[in-house]
Amino acid sequence: MCSGSRGSAGDDGPMETDNIINDTFSRECYFPTMVFKVVCSDFEELNAHLLKLIYAERERDRRGIERSNFRKLGGWHSHNKLHKDAAFGPLTDRVNQAGRRISRKLGYDPEKHLKIGTMWAIINPPGSSNKAHIHPGSQWSGVYYVNAPENAGDIEFTDPRTSHLMNQPGFGPGKKVKECWTKVKHSPKAGKMLIFPAWLYHSVEPNLSEKVDRDGERVIISFNLSQTRR
Ligand SMILES: [Fe+2]
Repeated sequence: MCSGSRGSAGDDGPMETDNIINDTFSRECYFPTMVFKVVCSDFEELNAHLLKLIYAERERDRRGIERSNFRKLGGWHSHNKLHKDAAFGPLTDRVNQAGRRISRKLGYDPEKHLKIGTMWAIINPPGSSNKAHIHPGSQWSGVYYVNAPENAGDIEFTDPRTSHLMNQPGFGPGKKVKECWTKVKHSPKAGKMLIFPAWLYHSVEPNLSEKVDRDGERVIISFNLSQTRR
């Protein structure tokens, strides 16, 4: 079941044929694309801790620039086993908690749980971005914002139903309901976590922050989740 605006007779405007005004009219929503959002309550302390770890890792691993999917623009990408490092525990605990909540909400097998398979950090300095991509081999993917200056680059999700993109109807100004959107953007915000299907195409707009040095860098931790037996 999908929430959303549901037109009343008044919203529909004048009926063309008065003798069918008593017919029922309803909407169901199938095959939705779900994006879960977590807002951490104590993110300032958590993020200060994570920033220290991530910058230390960048110092240690300068080859991370080669892992960026838009390397010419200077983004840095850590190795993808950060969840194995106990120092990242305060974040991995939260990701695992979100995985348990998703499993409960969607009625997953209680004998299995969504487990982190890979987790990595990305630093995007001003001017850098990430191309549209998916995360093959996982069920869910996510991003946690560690540092997010203003204009640091929105994440953009694209409607995965290509047939839906091919033949769009016209919409009245300001009338397009959420269920008909074909692109969705989220602005990065420190302490926010988004978890979305791994098959959902997403890209990151260029970081246009005018802040300098580390204050201008967009720093995130990304991860993949898949269901495994307990
Ligand atoms: Fe991604």
